Amino acid sequence: MNKIIIAIDGYSSSGKSTMARDLAKRIGYVYVDSGAMYRAVTLYAIEHGMASAEKGVDTEALVKALPKINISFTPAGADGVQHTLLNGKDVEREIRDMQVSSLVSPVAVIPEVRHRLTALQQQYGREKGIVMDGRDIGTTVFPDAEMKVFVNASAEERARRRVKELTDKGEKVTYEEVLENIRERDHIDTTRKESPLRKAPDAVLLDNDNMTIAQQMQWLLDLYHSKCQE
Ligand code: DC
Repeated sequence: MNKIIIAIDGYSSSGKSTMARDLAKRIGYVYVDSGAMYRAVTLYAIEHGMASAEKGVDTEALVKALPKINISFTPAGADGVQHTLLNGKDVEREIRDMQVSSLVSPVAVIPEVRHRLTALQQQYGREKGIVMDGRDIGTTVFPDAEMKVFVNASAEERARRRVKELTDKGEKVTYEEVLENIRERDHIDTTRKESPLRKAPDAVLLDNDNMTIAQQMQWLLDLYHSKCQE
């Protein structure tokens, strides 16, 4: 069977990363979490004094530092999880914390950051056989992807899922702060000038508010098999 490119876009915490990773594992494709790449750049900015809650993001300094930022992934472990490497260091845990989450959207609006990461993402797709999730994968990174999915769920449902994920990891967060962060990111992601979060006209909508993980997987597999026959 010919390999294809699968683009999964959607709102923050809509479950798209888990879904994309599980699908890739199931069909033997490579999975790339493009959000992790924006998070790694944000972590670099925080660690080098270029981003903070008080001062925001120092765009000029970050753009200058971009050539020094290398992002890669470890191969997937048995659970299908790849770890993100920032200049060779495993930062998988740090990039998921609230500090990074609250500064990543302002970093992701910077055109130079987007151009650099988009080019890297396109390299990953050269051989096809890839599932990539993000915000602009079906619109900007792979506009010709054979299969495009746009995932949505209500902000409240997404906040509930995210609180569970963070508290399971031992982080202390409240539902209110997580909901606020999700709403703020939705706003920044959908209104930025460069590659805003949009459903590509040829993407298929998946509203997963009331779907189990197993139901979503079946839905994706059905779509994948139909796309492979086209
Ligand atoms: O998927 P995520 O929540 O880990 O993504 C983190 C942030 O990165 C998100 O707020 C927007 C940004 N992002 C983006 O702008 N474009 C992508 N392709 C992926 C993520």
